[in-house]
Amino acid sequence: MIFWRVKPLDQILENAEKKSLKRQLGALQLTMLGIGAIIGTGIFVLTAEAAQKAGPGMMVAFVIAAVVCGLAALAYAELASMVPVSGSAYTYTYAVLGEAMAWIVGWALVLEYAVAAGAVAVGWSGYVNGLLNAANIGLPQFLQVGPYSGGAFNLLACLISLVITGLLIIGTSKSAWVNAVLVAIKIVALTAFVILAVPAAKSVNFEPFMPTGWGTPMGGVGVLGAAASIFFAYVGFDAVSTAAEETKNPNRNIPIGLIGSLAVCTVFYLLVGYGAVGAEGAQPLYDAAGKLLEPGTKEMMEACANSTALVCSNEPLAHVLRSLDHNTMAYLIGMAASLALPSVILMMIYGQTRIFFVMSRDGLLPEICSRVHPTFHTPHIITMITGVAVSLFAAMFPVGILADISNSGTLFAFIAVAFGVMILRQTQPGRARPFRTPLVWLVCPLAVLGCLLLFVNLSTKALTVFACWTVIGLFVYSMYGLRHSDLAKNGAK
Ligand code: ALA
Repeated sequence: MIFWRVKPLDQILENAEKKSLKRQLGALQLTMLGIGAIIGTGIFVLTAEAAQKAGPGMMVAFVIAAVVCGLAALAYAELASMVPVSGSAYTYTYAVLGEAMAWIVGWALVLEYAVAAGAVAVGWSGYVNGLLNAANIGLPQFLQVGPYSGGAFNLLACLISLVITGLLIIGTSKSAWVNAVLVAIKIVALTAFVILAVPAAKSVNFEPFMPTGWGTPMGGVGVLGAAASIFFAYVGFDAVSTAAEETKNPNRNIPIGLIGSLAVCTVFYLLVGYGAVGAEGAQPLYDAAGKLLEPGTKEMMEACANSTALVCSNEPLAHVLRSLDHNTMAYLIGMAASLALPSVILMMIYGQTRIFFVMSRDGLLPEICSRVHPTFHTPHIITMITGVAVSLFAAMFPVGILADISNSGTLFAFIAVAFGVMILRQTQPGRARPFRTPLVWLVCPLAVLGCLLLFVNLSTKALTVFACWTVIGLFVYSMYGLRHSDLAKNGAK
């Protein structure tokens, strides 16, 4: 059944060739595009959540998540170089595992992109609220965080999502020039952090190193729970593959962009993680009964009311610098995050609308989703629907829960990609592979196992949302895509 209605690779490639997007992006621009999509809320904000889950052991979590992403990126690069067309994991799955699996992967990508956009918006609001509070012009507390965290409505997170949706509707897209400036701002900010925080590291701050242990499946805590959450910080390298149709010599440049951007970010993250733990300490907070508090909850906020611990901060990197008396640099890091994070939200909402667009073009979603605005030439209706949904998640939920939910969809899509590579090696061994995953029979199974390990260590809440979302997706497919897909109309069984 899963091999049912496969869309032949040649047909996908032929359709892509008919389009005439100008091929102008090179390896460096692609790497910048990847870094632009990767560095965001994960490193700037979730560092505090990871510390609450794992204490100083979060540094191990950063390494585990990097290894899993590296393995997945090697698999991604093979498919992206073989099938350099839009739609990423969804398109590859359509060619390899058939329509039903492609639908499930596309549906899971909604979690990856739309929910991630919400998470980044919440992360951004943490830094901007911090700057406004410092200037004594802060919003009332109930408008700074959503109800789950003891507030009422995260106003800034909601507003930024709507503003970005508006920009996407009128046609603002990823401009290579603006992206390069924002990447430079983020790199300078993280470099400054590393230069100031790493030399201030003290060995006492690493003790006890793993206060919460490795964690248990579905527990969402411990080093593995933290790795499952901090995985979010690395997500985004796959955005490089969405630019496949606009890339010069995609077969060479896409693998370089994918793996290069991930490698650069990994080096920064490991140094930032070390600096944050070493300079300030990163011990978790417990309630009166000795139970580990869950980040983002009202109880955690209450426990944090009188604490200056790193795990309590919504702007942890600025917080570390303040604790080292680098107040001006702390302020500048806050400014850098406030300026640069909106571009990650833009990439995520853009990626989401692109995936809906391709799914609608394939007949799996109603035609209205690929309708294009007569003046702006953008898919305005689906952009609007996506943007309103993102703004509502962002207003209501804390960053950590949104990031975990997003990770569940991403990990699922990565598993499908790694399987796709192995299946194609068996079924179409003679097809040209400009980039070949090295040691494929080791790398791909390890990528699957690594993604599964992180998946099962997500919190129960995130896994429950994933399961419900998948069931809803199957229902929608059976009611619509099953009959309306182009392949169904063309008589495929
Ligand atoms: N990796 C991106 C971020 O951390 C999604 O914001």
